[in-house]
Amino acid sequence: MCGIFGCVLKDGQAAPRVLAALKRLEYRGYDSCGEATVHEGRIFVRKDVGEVDAVHARLKLDELPGKIGIGHTRWATHGAPTQDNAHPHTDCTGRIAVAHNGIIENFLELREELKARGHVFKSRTDTEVVPHLIEEFMTKGLDLVKATMEAVKRLKGSFALVIVHADFDGLVCVKMESPLVLGVGRDGMYVASDVPAFLPYTNVIVPLEDGDMAVLRPDGYEVYCFATGKPVRRKPRTVDWTADMAQKEGYPHFMLKEIHEQPRSLRNTLRLDRRYLTMMADLLNTAHEAFMVACGTSYHACVAASYAMARLAKKAVHPVIASEFVENYGDFVGARTTILAVSQSGETADTLAAVEHAKERGATILGITNVLGSKLTRVARVYVCQQSGPEIGVAATKTYTAQLSVLSQLAVLMAERRGKLGHVEAEDLWEHLMAVPDVVEAVMEATEKHIISLAKRYAGTERFAFVGAGVNFATALEGRLKLLEIAYAPSIATPRLDDNIVECLGQTSVAIFVCPTSGDGRESVLSDAMKAADSGMEVVVLAHENDEEAAEVADELVALPFKPDMPEVLTPLPFIIPLQLFAYYVSVERGLNPDKPRNLAKSVTVK
Ligand code: M6R
Repeated sequence: MCGIFGCVLKDGQAAPRVLAALKRLEYRGYDSCGEATVHEGRIFVRKDVGEVDAVHARLKLDELPGKIGIGHTRWATHGAPTQDNAHPHTDCTGRIAVAHNGIIENFLELREELKARGHVFKSRTDTEVVPHLIEEFMTKGLDLVKATMEAVKRLKGSFALVIVHADFDGLVCVKMESPLVLGVGRDGMYVASDVPAFLPYTNVIVPLEDGDMAVLRPDGYEVYCFATGKPVRRKPRTVDWTADMAQKEGYPHFMLKEIHEQPRSLRNTLRLDRRYLTMMADLLNTAHEAFMVACGTSYHACVAASYAMARLAKKAVHPVIASEFVENYGDFVGARTTILAVSQSGETADTLAAVEHAKERGATILGITNVLGSKLTRVARVYVCQQSGPEIGVAATKTYTAQLSVLSQLAVLMAERRGKLGHVEAEDLWEHLMAVPDVVEAVMEATEKHIISLAKRYAGTERFAFVGAGVNFATALEGRLKLLEIAYAPSIATPRLDDNIVECLGQTSVAIFVCPTSGDGRESVLSDAMKAADSGMEVVVLAHENDEEAAEVADELVALPFKPDMPEVLTPLPFIIPLQLFAYYVSVERGLNPDKPRNLAKSVTVK
């Protein structure tokens, strides 16, 4: 996730507005930033690594001349945070500049094609193919608008783009699966990833839709479908938001916004270059001993992955809480060991300590992280960026499901590479994986209202038990952690609800069961739910919407609309959604602030 902005003013200087917008967009990414302006037939670019204030102190971003400007705050996805990789990116002539948010899946192939035609690349980003592609079409005689239309037809993936040209009195922007909204001001036209970027100047907005291309001039805008070139109507509307509300896109808390962002962040994980995941799969498969090390939520993702790797690839990859690793497993580590470290921030001290110990003893280090340029990416032999964008709510939500998705892909690849999956079974798993973002979206829609009513009903409950067996033991652990972190509710997570637990928790407790449609855990979960009901506990069961057996034992059935034949190893993805929502709404019902838990802070500075 990055922040992009552009403005075309009737009068005055664009650069100070671009700078101010970058400050307001910094919560979308802050490892580097930059600006480009157009003045008297030239493009001016300033960009560098660091937060906006630091870069401005060095480069004086507000001094660039001209009434047209674009800007970018970066959260690196392709290419580490460096000055060359910072946006905007330019073509060979330096007359086209582009800022981008999203992921261009086919950039490697386009880059090779453009290099073969003589284009020279200055960065390692996916974005840089865009100015070169536009340049290519312009050299064939097309104007900026038509060349952009042709260029974006060649792109696969997600992209919100703002584009300026030295000889064009305006700017061009394009939207496909990444957010982009226009602002209609009295003093000019604006475009940004999010409304707060231009809210001080206008509250009249035009949300663009996927497939739209807009041309902004000082006194108006036109929108086209870039596939057909035909004009489309997008009506302006007025929003009544404060800057704070706008940053949260109208949600009351970042946590709720991030829960709702999951379909989008999951789609990003499915765009990963599988070559790196395949390398990881091979290094895990051939290891003598293989471990996953992580903390907190990331550890729970490893627990789920360990089940998936064992079940699909028949390979034991042991999940270990990072702080436990060195003392207990450190002696077993050597040159034939592979360690997969999973860390959203890539900077968690215990995870890094485990990794460093293993590296010193000659182990192969792999990493999954959300922060390119983090320490983990510097020590790992192979790493993969989980593509979630910054997570501002302290309680991890979208980064957890992104880790689950990346790790599930890894488990399937491991199984394929070890020859443990038939062609049909592998196809089926990939098909279900690709459908996960839609399933998660449907689950959110189907369950949120019910969860709100459950949160009201149980907000005063003293104790909770989360029960999930097999791969969904991870779901129970993570559901419990969320409730504990933000609602401070004493709770346990267990694969089996034995008599001692039932007796200790007593009738004043709520037991929440995760009940998949198939798998070894189903029977035990259902029988434990019956036991809990008999003892007088309130029983909530998360199950498939047509699960009659589950409905029979439940006081409350949270009905999830996933395909009943979804392989059990993938079910932690839909099942965690209602539990994230439950923790959030219980916290709110208890009058707490879910974005600011008392005892937690993220490892990385967040805006
Ligand atoms: O950045 P990491 O993934 O290494 O962080 C690990 C934990 O500190 C983290 O998952 C923490 O438990 C979350 N905030 C939980 O919501």
